[in-house]
Amino acid sequence: MTQPDRPVALFALNPTIFVIFGITGDLASRKLIPALLNLYTKKLLPSRFAILGFSRRMFNREEFREFIRSRMNVRLGQFKEEDIKHFLDHMSYEQGMFDDAGAYIRLASKMKNIDDRWGQCSNKLYHLSVPPTLYEKILSNIARSGLAQSCGDGSGWTRVLIEKPFGSDSDTARCLDKLLGTLFKEEQIFRIDHYLAKEVLQNIMAFRFSNSMFEPLWNRHFIDKVHIKLFEKSGMDGRGAFYDPIGALKDVGQNHMLMMLAIVAMEAPDSFKAKDIRCERAKILEKLKLMTGRSIRGRVVRGQYMGYMQESGISAQSQTETYFRIQALINSSRWKDVPFYLESGKAMSESKVEIDVYFKKGERNDRQETGVGDAENKQNILTFRIQPEEGIRIRFFVKVPGYDYITESKTLKFKYADVASFDIISNDYERLIHDAFIGDQALFASTDEIMASWKFMMSILNNLRQTKLVLYEKGAEYVE
Ligand code: BG6
Repeated sequence: MTQPDRPVALFALNPTIFVIFGITGDLASRKLIPALLNLYTKKLLPSRFAILGFSRRMFNREEFREFIRSRMNVRLGQFKEEDIKHFLDHMSYEQGMFDDAGAYIRLASKMKNIDDRWGQCSNKLYHLSVPPTLYEKILSNIARSGLAQSCGDGSGWTRVLIEKPFGSDSDTARCLDKLLGTLFKEEQIFRIDHYLAKEVLQNIMAFRFSNSMFEPLWNRHFIDKVHIKLFEKSGMDGRGAFYDPIGALKDVGQNHMLMMLAIVAMEAPDSFKAKDIRCERAKILEKLKLMTGRSIRGRVVRGQYMGYMQESGISAQSQTETYFRIQALINSSRWKDVPFYLESGKAMSESKVEIDVYFKKGERNDRQETGVGDAENKQNILTFRIQPEEGIRIRFFVKVPGYDYITESKTLKFKYADVASFDIISNDYERLIHDAFIGDQALFASTDEIMASWKFMMSILNNLRQTKLVLYEKGAEYVE
């Protein structure tokens, strides 16, 4: 496998304009602006760049600056005042309604002015930081106003960053993809699943393919099961109106959970280039065994935490799941009959994301042991801790010193926090925006991955009536 060649350094890039549709929204202030500011202070933005916000609100230049300054989610003292001031100098604003064609013409002319000032056709990166219901309006207007085309002789590119959810089922996902496809080529489309940018998730590939002691064991002969957990302690946090029509299966199941499965289960890519990695992720997702009305029973558990219906924005008789556990199987010789459990819930006992790989019980491992006697206690378990307390640990067995042959489980641990130079990028958008600037799509979902994920998820959603919704108490560790 060849090593990745990182594309050109950012400072050598053409000047770039980053346009944020919906700049006054929550995502922009919580994630995008802090990520851009961080990249700026690390000198990881092109030497000439501009951020152009587009939204419905009326602001003059000063009000806009003040709005961004007061809303951006950065810790007091995290950045020097001088850096913030210089960063804000790169920002400007265009007011407009998302369905007003004239506003896009004004936006285009504003960008043309910036290009004229720079004396060059710049790159254009568009971020749709708006609810998915607005995608079609914005994308069609981008097309009509010519914003999707590069202005120069091919020296300046145009790219679009688009947030999940990509559709609300297979059909709407296909329509969205078709629309995107009429405006942009696949290499211009950056579909965000922010889980792909999580450092430990990226590390799974390195761990599997750079350590010859693990890859030979990575199959049905040695692995008993894989358990992927995404637990959140919080409930709706005011997002009820968004969440209730969607539910956990679509909110995190169709995307984050399946991406984690793909990374654990995929075959080795021919290279670490985006094309090869995305292709292998898509191939394994396409091999997921679809659920049927019969097979779903006992393989999918759905739950709703008590008190959910009383939260704001939730319909009175809501049947929406806030928890699920899926037993997924993969139709491949490597993984035949190995269950992959995908488990996620809101209002759980703690917030943690981790992947446990359970190895089969060693042949001699049924000899005397201390501790509880269940099967799991005799298994080696490799855990990737995605967040918080990022790290990797392995549970193994040692003989207890003494005259008897008694084994006990111990843990080998690696924690990122213990390595002074291992500074995890805490805002996933920093990495994503960086990669979109340099045109590396490895951490973005391809159309094939999206369609394969939807296909599997639809086989569950279409058979949901065969499952019942279980109520669970807030703070649960597990739902029966
Ligand atoms: C989002 C979901 O995609 O991911 C949220 O819409 C969820 O419901 C979030 O809370 C989890 O992401 P993270 O990075 O906070 O683990």
